[in-house]
Amino acid sequence: MPPEPQPRRSARTSPGALHELGTGLADSSQRGPVARQGGDADAAAADLDWWRRGVVYQVYPRSFADGNGDGIGDLRGIIEHLDHLNDGSPASLGVDAIWLSPIYPSPDFDFGYDVADYVGVDASYGTLADFDAFVEASHERGIRVILDLVLNHSSHLHPWFEASRSSRSGPYADWYIWADSPGRSITGGRRRPNNWRSFFGGPAWTWDKTREQFYMHTFLPEQPDLNWRNPDVRAALMDVVRTWLERGVDGFRLDVFNVFFKDASLRSNPRRVGRLGAWSWQRHIHDRDQPELADALAELRALVDAYPGTMTVGELFDGSIREAAANVAPRHLIFDWSLIWPRWSAPAFRAAIAARDMVFGPDLWPANVLSNHDQPRHASRFAPVAVSAAEGDGRAKIAAAMLLTLRGTAFLYYGEEIAQRNLVVPNAGAFDPPARRAGVLFRWWNRDQCRGPMSWRGGPGAGFTTGRPWLPVAPDAASRNVARQSAEPDSVLSFYRQLIWLRRDTPVLGEGSQELIDVGDTDVLAYVRRLGDSSAMVLLNFASRPVTIDVPQPGPGRSWRIALSTQQHGPANGLGGRVTLNPLEALVGLDG
Ligand code: NOJ
Ligand code: CA
Repeated sequence: MPPEPQPRRSARTSPGALHELGTGLADSSQRGPVARQGGDADAAAADLDWWRRGVVYQVYPRSFADGNGDGIGDLRGIIEHLDHLNDGSPASLGVDAIWLSPIYPSPDFDFGYDVADYVGVDASYGTLADFDAFVEASHERGIRVILDLVLNHSSHLHPWFEASRSSRSGPYADWYIWADSPGRSITGGRRRPNNWRSFFGGPAWTWDKTREQFYMHTFLPEQPDLNWRNPDVRAALMDVVRTWLERGVDGFRLDVFNVFFKDASLRSNPRRVGRLGAWSWQRHIHDRDQPELADALAELRALVDAYPGTMTVGELFDGSIREAAANVAPRHLIFDWSLIWPRWSAPAFRAAIAARDMVFGPDLWPANVLSNHDQPRHASRFAPVAVSAAEGDGRAKIAAAMLLTLRGTAFLYYGEEIAQRNLVVPNAGAFDPPARRAGVLFRWWNRDQCRGPMSWRGGPGAGFTTGRPWLPVAPDAASRNVARQSAEPDSVLSFYRQLIWLRRDTPVLGEGSQELIDVGDTDVLAYVRRLGDSSAMVLLNFASRPVTIDVPQPGPGRSWRIALSTQQHGPANGLGGRVTLNPLEALVGLDG
């Protein structure tokens, strides 16, 4: 039942190298731990560094594009829309990679984050052949493929768990975290091994009648946690990683990596005074972030590093910037959520960026993200109902300019390029499993709201499906969609394209250092990026009023050249000294 290593596939060169060197399709080179064909050494080196300057686009496959009309997005649908992501021209977004949320066979108790087979493709998304076609079509366009790996837990229907729960002594007995009940409580119920909680509500322990033991789950009972302390488990999971690398993928997003290890003796967490919700009533020192993680991560990273041009990004679960920083390494990024929490305010973002800059320093490389499949979409977060659609779009452009010009790898969530808003969906009848369990002691937001079908064009199904979509299409899909915004030079989509292509063409935006600057008005978030003799200055007016600010010159006798602005801004060829920004103006100036 451990995954069988797959036969080695025909190999590919780095997609970026193909794209940038314009060498066409690679059908002869051997992709693997050692081999990479390439020409020019500088281009190859730049290519290997794509994980720093790159833009990664998250596809939630269920909702991106439905290729067969069953109402559920799939791999064929994604292939049909790859040109939107990067066709090699500024008429496309120009992203460097796709992060694909899970496509593995899954009973969908947590929509793919409960994996029943780590090396397959769920029939609703297609086949392994479709997957290979997807990787190949992506690589042809210079787009790398980052898979979502859910290695903390599997589905309860994974054959490993089915074997593990069937016997206390079989070969899989110790593949999950099992513990006896310490006895009965005064009310007669079985006491649990400790006080750990599930993040999705309720205790972290579920009783299994066959083994007459409890098993542990950080999330749903249908998501039992794997036992990373068992060397066989670890070896099997490394085989999974190897299998996908051999299949041609370019890296991984690691779901909740800092929870892999729990305290070996299963000690209870100390209690604390928390907010509403039992999760916060304890200090989570024994159910995550154990010292053994470092060694396991090192093994996983060494395996990934053996394939040049790859990367990983780890999802820090419920942790601080310091914990994020402790796990960042070259080619291995960490999501630390600094940009997810601030409300719409320049000082709030300045504080968040300054806090992270202080901890990360000049060497650690951040991952910047505003939205994902778990959080309310930022176009909605930043524009509550009282804010008009036009102003909301203005804010979405400021947010985009920030995301794509801050120091760090940028992660986009499908739909944000058209400022797609949250779906309004009732909690009753929610698909999102924790939303169905929510109550007074377990508060939860409904993640269905950020997982709505992509709006490709007007008309029934919004170009997402010809069938009945699994979640309703956006109510404004007729006016807010990719086709319409493609044709409008001032649209949010056109702005994303300009920003990403500017970033691609401007090394200082991709690689430079970063310094927050004070321009004399707290509503303006301003920073300077520097790389060698080049510098860039970014001015973001969060206010809906004009602001007049003091812009420092790039150097004695020099002024900034305006490379990009959301508005038709003043002087075409110089900027410095006293400057008035229009309401919600984003401006990028370059020097050198
Ligand atoms: C984090 C993922 O982002 C989330 O969607 C999922 O529900 C949990 N991990 C459990 O896998
Ligand atoms: Ca489908």
